[in-house]
Amino acid sequence: MKTTAKKVFAALASLTLCASLAACGTETTPAANSGQKASGTKTVGIAMPTKSLERWNRDGEYLKKQFEDSGYKVELKYSDNKTDQQNNDIQSMIADGVDLLMIAAIDGSTLTQTLDDAKAKNIPVIAYDRLIMNTDAVSYYVSFDNYTVGKLQGEFVRDQLKLDTEAGPFNIEFTAGDPADNNAGFFFNGAYDALKPYIDEGKLVIPSGKTKFEQVATPEWKTDTAFDNMQNTLASYYSDGTKLDVALCSNDSTAMGVAKAITSDYAGDNQPILTGQDGDITNLRNIVDGIQTMTVYKNVNDEAGATLAVAKAILEGGTPDEGLLSSLGADASYDTSSYNNGVKVVPSYLLVPYVITKDNLQKLVDTGLYKWDANEKYLESTAETT
Ligand code: BGC
Repeated sequence: MKTTAKKVFAALASLTLCASLAACGTETTPAANSGQKASGTKTVGIAMPTKSLERWNRDGEYLKKQFEDSGYKVELKYSDNKTDQQNNDIQSMIADGVDLLMIAAIDGSTLTQTLDDAKAKNIPVIAYDRLIMNTDAVSYYVSFDNYTVGKLQGEFVRDQLKLDTEAGPFNIEFTAGDPADNNAGFFFNGAYDALKPYIDEGKLVIPSGKTKFEQVATPEWKTDTAFDNMQNTLASYYSDGTKLDVALCSNDSTAMGVAKAITSDYAGDNQPILTGQDGDITNLRNIVDGIQTMTVYKNVNDEAGATLAVAKAILEGGTPDEGLLSSLGADASYDTSSYNNGVKVVPSYLLVPYVITKDNLQKLVDTGLYKWDANEKYLESTAETT
């Protein structure tokens, strides 16, 4: 079941990230409002995967700021994309007696034992952005509509190539995400399903024959791996000048690698359509420069806000349901059917992603999270140091 609520979007203006993002590894800060009993005495634990990708730095800081502004103490840990380290980091937060955990899992299927320990101590767990698999210890999932992220990429390609009217054939290659990340399959399927009718019709052709998620997955979403894979594909199927019309990449970190391979190794003379996801600053530069064509944007400050609303309700003894949608401050749906983690269907709050191209970059500035540079050409983060 899916319930949708339209909400007035109260944009949180200019957020100040901590002076050096690289310096905000593990932190516990005093509650801003420690006199307040409802939240001031409570500590939340936030487990983020890695600092190596721009978005998780943003997520961590937005979450930290919003929870602190609401009077909670915050323990924030990044685990260097290492599953053992993330288990240890969460264990240490459990030992510290946090009242609630928010976890963006590195590998969704490796936290079962650790979360059993959280459950034994009655610590509620919110799966943040990525679903945590094989455990009944996760209470809620807060993310974006991940299938729609991929669908927007596929529909963008359809519209750019005018697949409903043009005969084609056009050549496309896919680059997907980390198989350990439950989101990655949703992104790939959303994109593939949107394009499948045209692939079936022969208007879209995949010269490499790599049509399955497993064949195009990119462990850890690594830019270098995406680069290597695309280089191989170009060497094997495009070195004779075969035209590559589309490189469909699930996110911005993989799009960076694919862009590099295209720039250095592509024998054709056209600039292929290149998709992404996240709105990372370097990718937004590539969009201005015509190297990347679009990114699917997910406002992670809103994601942090939705997570705060869910956490607050739980910590105040409530049971969040679709009624909470009206207090999220962003468009979202409440979904009680799509996210089965192997043990249970996890009730999910899913925010709405949208497409950014060079023609609507101002939309990002309007969020308050980005600003134009001095020449009004490229975007910068409104955070002090990104
Ligand atoms: C997130 C994406 C991100 C990817 C790599 C996914 O789980 O939803 O926004 O690009 O991880 O970090």
